[in-house]
Amino acid sequence: MEDYRISTGVRGLDLMLRGGLIPGRVYLVKGAPGTGKTTLGMHFAMAGVLNGENVLYITLEEPGINIRKDFSKLGFDVNNPSFTLIDATPTTEHYVLIEDYFEKFAKNLNKLTESIEEEYKIRRYSRVVIDPISMLKVAATTEAEYRRSFLAFVKVMAKLKATVMLISEIEKSDIEEYLVDGVIELKLIESGDELVRLLKIKKFRGSGFDHRIRRYSLTDRGMIVHYGDDGS
Ligand SMILES: Nc1ncnc2c1ncn2[C@@H]1O[C@H](COP(=O)(O)OP(=O)(O)OP(=O)(O)O)[C@@H](O)[C@H]1O
Ligand SMILES: [Mg+2]
Repeated sequence: MEDYRISTGVRGLDLMLRGGLIPGRVYLVKGAPGTGKTTLGMHFAMAGVLNGENVLYITLEEPGINIRKDFSKLGFDVNNPSFTLIDATPTTEHYVLIEDYFEKFAKNLNKLTESIEEEYKIRRYSRVVIDPISMLKVAATTEAEYRRSFLAFVKVMAKLKATVMLISEIEKSDIEEYLVDGVIELKLIESGDELVRLLKIKKFRGSGFDHRIRRYSLTDRGMIVHYGDDGS
């Protein structure tokens, strides 16, 4: 029997994943600056909204107001009531929010885990995006502590039955890659006098996947992964 899959919101990527992501698991999307990580996160979020799910998107670096502005231009339904965008970017003294989301979500991974559990008391979310987790890694004092809190985070997410997309920059240490259920990497390389965008799936527990490295584009409708079945 075919197992149940959920869409990433990007058709070519769903095909590479042999139908989509296995729900209730934690995935990592990593890539250099400007490779389209937030775009993929938003596709994943909006696919949930279209599917009638509640989605929680926690932004830790790019201000929420910019995300809403840029992605509504690309045709994303950023004001849909099923889409909750939490802006946990650092605030300044001059800009006091009613609730300090930075303190709650961005201080460290344990706090983030607790705060997501709190959010679940208000509303059940089936998809969660954390964009990016890099700040939380810096907050950990030792690698052992980070690994421990990361595993605790993964366990809590499984208990909440959430499908999670973690976004990360390319870093020297990549312990998350071992601890998550799947890893997707976005790359920008030079080929002759052209910049080429490439996507590869590095790992996908519980499933086969496309081992080809595929080209993708960022367009005025978001990300398109060129799987090659329809000439795209
Ligand atoms: N309408 C568009 N047409 C083509 N490309 C676009 C369009 N809008 C945005 N882009 C491209 O998308 C890229 C940014 O995508 P995105 O914010 O998802 O990347 P990111 O990996 O999250 O970046 P960062 O590391 O800064 O967070 C930009 O470099 C831009 O060139
Ligand atoms: Mg981004």
